[in-house]
Amino acid sequence: MYENIDFDNIDLTQNPPQEEPDRQYYYIAKARQYVQEKSRKKGRPLTFCVNTFGCQMNARDSEKLIGILEQIGYVKKETEDADFVIYNTCTVRENANNKVYGRLGYLHSQKKKNPDMMIGLCGCMMQEPEVVEKIRTSYRFVDLVFGTHNIYKFAELIVAAFESKGMIVDIWKDTDKIVEDLPVERKYTFKSGVNIMFGCNNFCSYCIVPYVRGRERSRDPKDIIREIERLVADGVVEVMLLGQNVNSYGKNLEHPMTFAQLLEEVEKIDGLERIRFMTSHPKDLSDELIEVLGKSKKICKHLHLPLQSGSSRILKEMNRHYTKEQYLELVKKIRAAVPDIALTTDIIVGFPGETEEDFLETMEVVKEVQYDSAFTFIYSKRTGTPAATKEDQVSPEVVKDRFDRLLHVVQEIGSQKAGALQGTVQKVLIEEINAQDEHLVTGRLSNNSVVHVPGGADLIGKIVNVSLDECKGFYYLGTLAEGR
Ligand code: SAH
Ligand code: SF4
Ligand code: F3S
Repeated sequence: MYENIDFDNIDLTQNPPQEEPDRQYYYIAKARQYVQEKSRKKGRPLTFCVNTFGCQMNARDSEKLIGILEQIGYVKKETEDADFVIYNTCTVRENANNKVYGRLGYLHSQKKKNPDMMIGLCGCMMQEPEVVEKIRTSYRFVDLVFGTHNIYKFAELIVAAFESKGMIVDIWKDTDKIVEDLPVERKYTFKSGVNIMFGCNNFCSYCIVPYVRGRERSRDPKDIIREIERLVADGVVEVMLLGQNVNSYGKNLEHPMTFAQLLEEVEKIDGLERIRFMTSHPKDLSDELIEVLGKSKKICKHLHLPLQSGSSRILKEMNRHYTKEQYLELVKKIRAAVPDIALTTDIIVGFPGETEEDFLETMEVVKEVQYDSAFTFIYSKRTGTPAATKEDQVSPEVVKDRFDRLLHVVQEIGSQKAGALQGTVQKVLIEEINAQDEHLVTGRLSNNSVVHVPGGADLIGKIVNVSLDECKGFYYLGTLAEGR
């Protein structure tokens, strides 16, 4: 375990070990020496800033980057006037890419002020060859570029960047490797994401994720359980199991196991109070899983179940492998097993060929399911995906009009549903001091609703009983109740 390693006592006169994670421990030690020397020269510690775009997967990856940087001796900074700035990028929609290019200009101006500054780019966007080409030619001030498959090699890449004058680029097309036991620094002391699988095999026709995250690989359940046990010993009470399609967990393991079985194992961990997971693909959501949701004491009453479209015709074009009717049937079964579950979703508007009738079917499903909330996205054409070559792209004006109509309905339903628990006492995990009012703390219910409660920092990380006195639109105001 990396916690037991004394990085100042690794023999760097030897060649680096071939096997992982020992090889990375060696490079952490080596990078540490460089950083010590550089800070001695500067007369101050070296700082870093990791800026994360995209989803929970990227957020968890950033915690791994931060863990390694801190072992190397860098000190964390929230602003980008740091000695080492890393962008962990997302490419799921075009505007995610544009944001990164926009900010790179600003980073260049920072670097002109501090020529020793290093700039690193990683994450999903870097898995696209055109992006890397553009960075090589037009953003030559970048020092280090790597992808999603080799972030475990971060220490080794930092050493390469320290020892090189030019840009270091290391991108792998895919991998079947999972490296365990590397440093990781959690953003919260009391909750944590836990990867259970990497990659995606679904190839929804609009989506770039399978191309940039590679083929689906499940972690060994023993490694997952061991990681969660260690997190719990370290104060974590809530975990979020992460995968692009958690319902297909375990299919490619040596001893196959279902996601429902994994959840039952996680449930047994003493001291763990809450389990969340993300994301569930409707096509693989089994009756076995619904049964586990129904009887679990720890799984939170919230399911994110991306719909994408309510039209069976469009769903087929999207390669989603379910129909509108199957989706609605699934929702019925879930609600029957867990009546108080909150349902949220993702919806894409303006998929190529979407007609007004198709769109109205989406609206119909939204009204029928009554989502607690929904993320709505305008379809974004991603080069390399099958949908990008479709001729019948919907015009921006039509998409905008549909998007606004959908958002209106989603918000209306959301506000009607909010407040359903007003007047009851619920368990709340207190997460932080309220940003607007320091006399309040903010926490989440099992169903993921937010509540603000008078209280102080001593409550952070604790699960307390809260009386939900008043619903204010999308959040509650509450007070601590008996029995905490
Ligand atoms: N694996 C998850 C989703 C990951 S991407 C799942 O299958 O549910 C998160 C969301 O981004 C998707 O659910 C989808 O709604 C949206 N999305 C993905 N590709 C998109 C694209 N090309 N244009 C617009 N939205 C997209
Ligand atoms: Fe993309 Fe579909 Fe995989 Fe989700 S399941 S990441 S939408 S390809
Ligand atoms: Fe974006 Fe990559 Fe996640 S493309 S949504 S950061 S898997």
